[in-house]
Amino acid sequence: MFNITQLSQEKINKIIQDALEIAGGKSFKAKQDIFVSNLFFEDSTRTKTSFDIAERKLGLKVVPFDASHSSVNKGESLYDTVKTIESLGVNLVVIRHKQDRFYEDLKNINIPIINAGDGTGNHPSQCMLDLVTIFQEFGKFEGLKVGIVGDVKHSRVANSNAEALRKLGAKVYFSGPSKWFDEGAIINGTFLAFNELVKEVDVLILLRIQHERHENKHGFSAEEYHKKYGLTKEREKLMKPNAIIMHPAPINRGVEIDTDLVECERSRIFKQMENGVYARMAILKDALEQKGFEFE
Ligand code: CP
Repeated sequence: MFNITQLSQEKINKIIQDALEIAGGKSFKAKQDIFVSNLFFEDSTRTKTSFDIAERKLGLKVVPFDASHSSVNKGESLYDTVKTIESLGVNLVVIRHKQDRFYEDLKNINIPIINAGDGTGNHPSQCMLDLVTIFQEFGKFEGLKVGIVGDVKHSRVANSNAEALRKLGAKVYFSGPSKWFDEGAIINGTFLAFNELVKEVDVLILLRIQHERHENKHGFSAEEYHKKYGLTKEREKLMKPNAIIMHPAPINRGVEIDTDLVECERSRIFKQMENGVYARMAILKDALEQKGFEFE
């Protein structure tokens, strides 16, 4: 199971280095037939498409799976679905599911499972592509100051990134509505007012407001949120000269970030997406090599 908690610092660094080599032009191809399937039970544009591209670049055979037309709709459980895919001869699955820690139901599955996002739990492949993007920029993690701002209560990106960045020696700060920080049970860290944080950090990671996970209306209009907690043009001017802006996307333009800043000089938002293919190639290769598959 690919999850940040299980990864040693050494393994994280190895995946980052492999991803950077791939970004620099190195290619890897499977030496034998390997079948993989992407089981997405929640919507996705970036993660699903970039896993798909990463798999094809590695020469893997991608078996299509459409959750909306699967036997899940007849009541089949996640376990029976994955066990079926395994029995049919698929060698690795990538899973996104709205249930936190869905993988705990899959302990009897013998093929590698890559977590592509579990509810409000973790998003390890997003974390790896974020780490690749940060390392590309600064060449280190030790001593870097990283701010994670916004809907930390519902963000699986916040959980994975905070855990990995601390493991690698970065200092992690949070901001946004303090209520969401206080209620974010997994997260413990330093909370700063946004106007303070924005001056302090080398990397500013903005989070999407996850409207679909708020049980009640969260009480902010888009304009109010942007004014209080969004990266406005005025706040961007307070950032350190070499600081960068990141966002896992999709972006609520004009809410978390002024639309003109989405592609500004500091923004690495589309670079993150490009790095998503390289990071996911490195993750897939590592998981398959652990099962004895070979690449050339
Ligand atoms: N960042 C991210 O997970 O985007 P998608 O939901 O489009 O995959």
